[in-house]
Amino acid sequence: MPTAVDIFCGSGGVTQGLRSARWRVLAACDNDPVATATYRANHPRTKLVDGDIRLDDTIDRIASAVRGRAVDLLVICAPCQPFSSQNRHRGDDEREQLIVRALAVAERLKPAMVFFENVPGLATPTYASIVAQVRTKLDELGYVVSDPLLRDAADFGVPQRRRRCIMLAARTRDAVDTFVSLDMTMPRKTVFRAIADLERLESGQASAEDALHRARTHQSIAVERLRHIPADGGSRSSLPAHLELRCHVGKPRSFSDVYGRMAWQDVAPTLTTGCTDITRGRFAHPEQHRAITLREAARLQSFPNDYEFRGNDSDIARQIGNAVPPEMIKAFVPAFRAALKASQR
Ligand SMILES: C[S@@+](CC[C@H](N)C(=O)[O-])C[C@H]1O[C@@H](n2cnc3c(N)ncnc32)[C@H](O)[C@@H]1O
Repeated sequence: MPTAVDIFCGSGGVTQGLRSARWRVLAACDNDPVATATYRANHPRTKLVDGDIRLDDTIDRIASAVRGRAVDLLVICAPCQPFSSQNRHRGDDEREQLIVRALAVAERLKPAMVFFENVPGLATPTYASIVAQVRTKLDELGYVVSDPLLRDAADFGVPQRRRRCIMLAARTRDAVDTFVSLDMTMPRKTVFRAIADLERLESGQASAEDALHRARTHQSIAVERLRHIPADGGSRSSLPAHLELRCHVGKPRSFSDVYGRMAWQDVAPTLTTGCTDITRGRFAHPEQHRAITLREAARLQSFPNDYEFRGNDSDIARQIGNAVPPEMIKAFVPAFRAALKASQR
């Protein structure tokens, strides 16, 4: 069974994807106590190091957890916020360095391959120096590194538009080229396929069977607005003047997704940590007068129904919004395997 180590594991999206493709995740690390509680509940056989990657002690604990076993893949999904277009401290956020710091784990464990996933912002000129630092360090450690590659989770079986920057480092050029050239895309999965079977809920109602399928309680004015927004992809541009939000009057283009509905036959928009809040994006149900529930968000991120989340509702929305969709990682597995094989030739 191929082996992996998952750094910045969060609630475990990457680990879930690898495990569902029969990889063994030997160790994982994160410093968020709620996310690690979720991780532990779902992946009890992985040694979880709850520590700050900036500390030498954390690197030592990860190495002890691996116990000298060979690691095929080290996954580094560093926090995206520093590289996001929404970040007001762009280029001056100390979290930018976490991705470089995490390479200390590669230095210790000497994995066959290192995989990075982040937001497309990482591939922009603003962060060229961070990518250069990553490349230089990996080069010193004897790896060949791919260019940053832009991919969309929607092309890998995830019912969500989620553009990401990925990179692979491996011991040989042949292994990297094998990974880059393998077509791993699959047909798109729609919002309809992902959530249409779930119980109908009104604002404030909860499913008796599924603790994650509970609708937020919206104010009556919010429900009234949603009633005026056309089903299946409608947006706030359809609101009559008396229901327009005061902050939006005369600004049809700014925050145009706010109060928007998802479309049944499309993929969902990118889920964020505010994914169950209609004031933070196109997060209204395609036809019901409410925001999507945590269950619908988890499905749109491709988590299986039996995945257990810890924490309160906003903790769970944050974990779902921050996660790497498990099905995207699972879709990459054939390319990881092929690259691993190529690196051993
Ligand atoms: C993009 S999320 C990871 C998502 C996760 N890989 C998944 O598959 O669901 C980034 C994670 O980095 C963690 N993190 C941020 N700073 C950290 C640090 N200094 N040390 C360890 N983990 C950190 C956060 O708690 C968060 O869970």
